Amino acid sequence: MNSKKIEIIKIGGSVITDKRNYKTLLTKNLARIIEEISLSFDKSRIIIHGAGSFGHIVAKKYDIINGFKKTEQIKGIIKIREDMTELTKNIVRLLNEKNLKAISFQTSAITFENQETRRIEIFVEPIKKALEMDLIPVLSGDIIFSENRSFSIISGDQLIEVLTHFFEVERVVFCSDIDGLLVYNEKNEQLLIEEIEYNKIDTINIAKIKETEKIDVTGEMNNKFNIIRKLSDKVNEVVLVNGLIEGRLRSVLNNEKTICTKIINK
Ligand code: IPE
Repeated sequence: MNSKKIEIIKIGGSVITDKRNYKTLLTKNLARIIEEISLSFDKSRIIIHGAGSFGHIVAKKYDIINGFKKTEQIKGIIKIREDMTELTKNIVRLLNEKNLKAISFQTSAITFENQETRRIEIFVEPIKKALEMDLIPVLSGDIIFSENRSFSIISGDQLIEVLTHFFEVERVVFCSDIDGLLVYNEKNEQLLIEEIEYNKIDTINIAKIKETEKIDVTGEMNNKFNIIRKLSDKVNEVVLVNGLIEGRLRSVLNNEKTICTKIINK
């Protein structure tokens, strides 16, 4: 365990890419997100970015998530790796233009899925060293290889959960395209939950979250919730913040009040 407390920021693919159009970078959003990070308190951090249209479209086309079935899928693996490298390169370059000392680690090169236990193994030593040198390790959702010539996809969110086994993480900030946790009250009005304890999450009717603005976010939201539940005994605070709205991420990172949801341990 690394004794230094760190913060993990997940930059969702929906904030920095147009998810519907293959390999479309939302350049302005990306530049702004990085600017907001650069204007926040200096902290020991790991940045994880999602894939958006640099990963999901090809992963779906070749059904990468369900593992090896036919050789045709190899084309998909190669393409995703190539495209993700390009996305990471853009992010790291912009971070370094702001002197944030970012260094990328290719997730697929340091992770492996044990097919029997389904556990994700990760070689974290280089990341630990980078943090000790005050660098910002940048990783992403990616391909993950497993035994028997197989493979799958590891999301950035899953990767965060894996990392919490090796680092003392004081806060995880999920920067995505939703304001936070939205629920309906008895009058059927949408409400944003500003703060909630981990152990109360299950009292929220997840089905109602499905009724919020975007259908395609639902699956993601449920997956995110499964991960957040797993974080409860390791991470004191998880924040869900909308990265499409200027200033919110920066406010969260600087501990200023803004529209977001905090999931906490009391
Ligand atoms: C997905 O990562 C990785 C690939 C499809 C290669 P994420 O699931 O974290 O990406 P976003 O944030 O939803 O785009």
